[in-house]
Amino acid sequence: MESENVQKKVVMTAAQPTGKLHLGNYLGAIKNWGQMIEDYECYFGIVDMHAITIPYVPADLKRNVYDCAAQYMACGLDPQKCNLFLQSMVKGHAELAWILGCICPIGSLERMTQYKDKAKKHKDALNSGLLYYPVLMASDILIYNADLVPVGEDQKQHLELTRDLAQKFNNMYSPTFKLPEPYIPKSGARIMSLQSPDSKMSKSDPNQNGTLYITDEPSVLQKKIMSAVTDSDSSVRYDVQNKPGVSNLMSIMAAFTQKTYGQIEDEFSGKGYGDFKKAVAEVVIESLAPVRQSYKDYSSDKAMIEDAIKKGSQAATRRTTKMMAKVYRKVGFLNFEK
Ligand code: TRP
Repeated sequence: MESENVQKKVVMTAAQPTGKLHLGNYLGAIKNWGQMIEDYECYFGIVDMHAITIPYVPADLKRNVYDCAAQYMACGLDPQKCNLFLQSMVKGHAELAWILGCICPIGSLERMTQYKDKAKKHKDALNSGLLYYPVLMASDILIYNADLVPVGEDQKQHLELTRDLAQKFNNMYSPTFKLPEPYIPKSGARIMSLQSPDSKMSKSDPNQNGTLYITDEPSVLQKKIMSAVTDSDSSVRYDVQNKPGVSNLMSIMAAFTQKTYGQIEDEFSGKGYGDFKKAVAEVVIESLAPVRQSYKDYSSDKAMIEDAIKKGSQAATRRTTKMMAKVYRKVGFLNFEK
């Protein structure tokens, strides 16, 4: 793969193995990653080392990694066309994180908004790993010398820190790391909760009727969509301020059908919310049917998942080993193997 792809730009991104993917993960991220695999050399990480920064159960982590890989593949991340790796299998991530940590001011970690939010939530189990999280993320990115890093809005601050650390390392030693560009896909829809359309769709939403999982049964999807919160006006019109619920359903429909908001408005002018929701449900159910089917196939084939992760992690190790040798040499570590 490497030799025929030398001219291709390198894309690196990752997500934690959180279990079930919802429509926000799918339309906002994974679906777009799938569109990049033809044009770029892609490294997609399942970051299990990030997942242990908050309290967790080891057996669940293992299960979630398998489940996450099966869902990624079901969403179109073909392991033959991209490198699906597991962070803990690629040793350089932790090694580079240590070195970057040694040039990273504590203050800049304490300022990270995600750290502050999570620290509040986990007051009674506040480990240094949580503070150090962005350094590991910087390592994830820099070790691939990636050109593009697709991330959501909420990760922009971490990416800025990554650039700062790269710059600092380059200045202290010599030019080594490319400064990675955040890539916020144009088509990346921001999907909100169906029950409280002012907040993002989330796995930890206490009202699970607001969250559509890509592996939900059709009847469940139908029920959740039919009971989505709307408003008392009854026209299908895109207006996030005054009609957040309807606008959210319109974004979902637009993301799946490529229709514009104008086209959707025309199609449903004079019709009520009932008809509109039915149509949204139909589109979602139909679009997710193949994903759900291949998820079933993949998740019953453990060996296939293991092969994919192994292949991806080996490719990731090949790419990152060279970078680590360079970094070790620059920081002054001895190497007797040359
Ligand atoms: N912190 C990211 C998130 O929560 C996950 C992540 C870890 C990541 N390492 C990364 C994303 C490297 C992009 C690149 O979404």
